[in-house]
Amino acid sequence: MTVTIIGGSASIDLARKISDRLGSDFVSSSVRTFPDGESKVTLSKAPSDGKIVVVNSTCPPVDTNLVQTLSIISKAREFSDDVVSVVPYMGYSRQDREFLPGEISTLSVVAELLKSSGSSEITSIDIHSDAGIRHFKGSIRNLSAIPDLVAETRKVGLDNPIVVSPDNGGIKRAESFSEIYGTDYTFLNKVRDGITGDVGISSNGHIDLEGRDVIIVDDMISTGGSITKSADFLKKGGCGRIFVACTHAVFIGDAQKRIMGSGVEGIISTNTVPNPTSTVDVSKIIAESISF
Ligand code: R5P
Repeated sequence: MTVTIIGGSASIDLARKISDRLGSDFVSSSVRTFPDGESKVTLSKAPSDGKIVVVNSTCPPVDTNLVQTLSIISKAREFSDDVVSVVPYMGYSRQDREFLPGEISTLSVVAELLKSSGSSEITSIDIHSDAGIRHFKGSIRNLSAIPDLVAETRKVGLDNPIVVSPDNGGIKRAESFSEIYGTDYTFLNKVRDGITGDVGISSNGHIDLEGRDVIIVDDMISTGGSITKSADFLKKGGCGRIFVACTHAVFIGDAQKRIMGSGVEGIISTNTVPNPTSTVDVSKIIAESISF
């Protein structure tokens, strides 16, 4: 069967890598932004019928990239009934429940939009929570970049490292990372103010990190608040070197600089959101997930 990969502007390099791995046709897309902010998306050529795989992360500007992704999916559907939508970083993943009365779980709206625009299947990587995955009602494949993040982190050569989740929501992720690495894990207590977004970190009561190197594992970095506050806390506890491994380094504003200024020696992330720390390439796990 013919496979065509269409790359959206947020993931064009990743899409090309997936296409190279599969030896498939490749269609790029370009975007023109009108003065009022609307996007005009144009494909470089018509895709063949057969399987079409649309690849685009909905990283910032989130709404713009979401509309572009939906537009490409809808166009792809004109050529094929078999449209796989790969959204490596799924924006809105943290909006998976009603935290305050009246809030909307926008991830459920995104899930419906991805389906109704023409996706027969949806693929993403390390979605923030199981609650979020449930909004897709069985139509999503959630791949894990953790084995590849572990392999990359090993290259640092850490001394008796312990894996730390910055919050209890990330315990499963830290556990999985530590199992593959072959070490232990713990977690911190994180409280985020629902209105201001400010983060406070405290002990879970059972942490002894004295002299041990630390790998803080998280699904994503946005403002960097969770990581900088965790690093401050861990240093006060007398830990050794601190590194961060995360799947999606979104880096809002000067987040990367602030993290490095908080005593973290290195950040390892994937190219779901391309930036200078994305040394882990997820094209292999995505290509392997695409069945012919
Ligand atoms: C939240 O539970 C997530 O797993 C991340 O810890 C969080 O979204 C990171 O955001 P920020 O970098 O703004 O603290």
